[in-house]
Amino acid sequence: MTRRIDGGIPGPDRRVSALEILEKGWEAIFAPDLAPPLRLVVEVGFGRGEFLVDLARRRPTDAFVGIELSHKRTVKMARRLARLELGNVRLLEARAERAVEELFAPGSVSEFWVNFSDPWPKKRHFKRRLLQPAFVADLARRLAPGGTLEIATDDPSYAEWIDDVLAAEPLLENAHAPEPHLRDAPGRLRTSFEEEWRGKGRIPYFWTHRRASPGAASPEEPRKRP
Ligand SMILES: C[S@@+](CC[C@H](N)C(=O)[O-])C[C@H]1O[C@@H](n2cnc3c(N)ncnc32)[C@H](O)[C@@H]1O
Repeated sequence: MTRRIDGGIPGPDRRVSALEILEKGWEAIFAPDLAPPLRLVVEVGFGRGEFLVDLARRRPTDAFVGIELSHKRTVKMARRLARLELGNVRLLEARAERAVEELFAPGSVSEFWVNFSDPWPKKRHFKRRLLQPAFVADLARRLAPGGTLEIATDDPSYAEWIDDVLAAEPLLENAHAPEPHLRDAPGRLRTSFEEEWRGKGRIPYFWTHRRASPGAASPEEPRKRP
């Protein structure tokens, strides 16, 4: 990985570019901090980054990738990681839809986390919501068998949308069935966004969906008739 002293990063710069990832692959990107085989965990839209830092600190042998559209937030997070000396995190400044499609092989990711993505509450803006059926299908395909897609939102209308998108995705199984989602997730770090919304009485919604294991019925691996 290229070490850049850019934007005043006070230590190792954990940012990587799409080109570096395509040229070297994830194992080289995480070397020498982590040895293969990597257990890849991806957070989409890490924002201020406190959730990603918490996961990475608690699980030092997992390989964490944070994808964030905002340049400012990516630089701030790179500074924070450099100060914390967390070697098991890499940051990618990118639109997640494209990054997921181009930079992760099918079946290669153990966990995706999508926390409080922008709800775009007006109907004419629904098309801007991150969790579109095509993106969720892409996330599902990149999960390893048994891998999980973890989602949270505080917005009731977006929650209904997410219920519908997840229920329609044939590669995913709801780990909380028969409930479509939970309203509590003990042990999970609350981000500053979450605390702010909880302070306004908005109780979040949480989903855990699992990529079906081989042998389970799926459109890719149809169960054979006896
Ligand atoms: C409402 S904030 C939530 C931040 C954080 N996940 C949290 O829970 O505190 C949504 C974040 O997603 C980022 N974002 C929005 N669209 C994105 C996309 N298509 N790809 C990557 N990041 C995106 C935004 O820049 C913002 O930082």
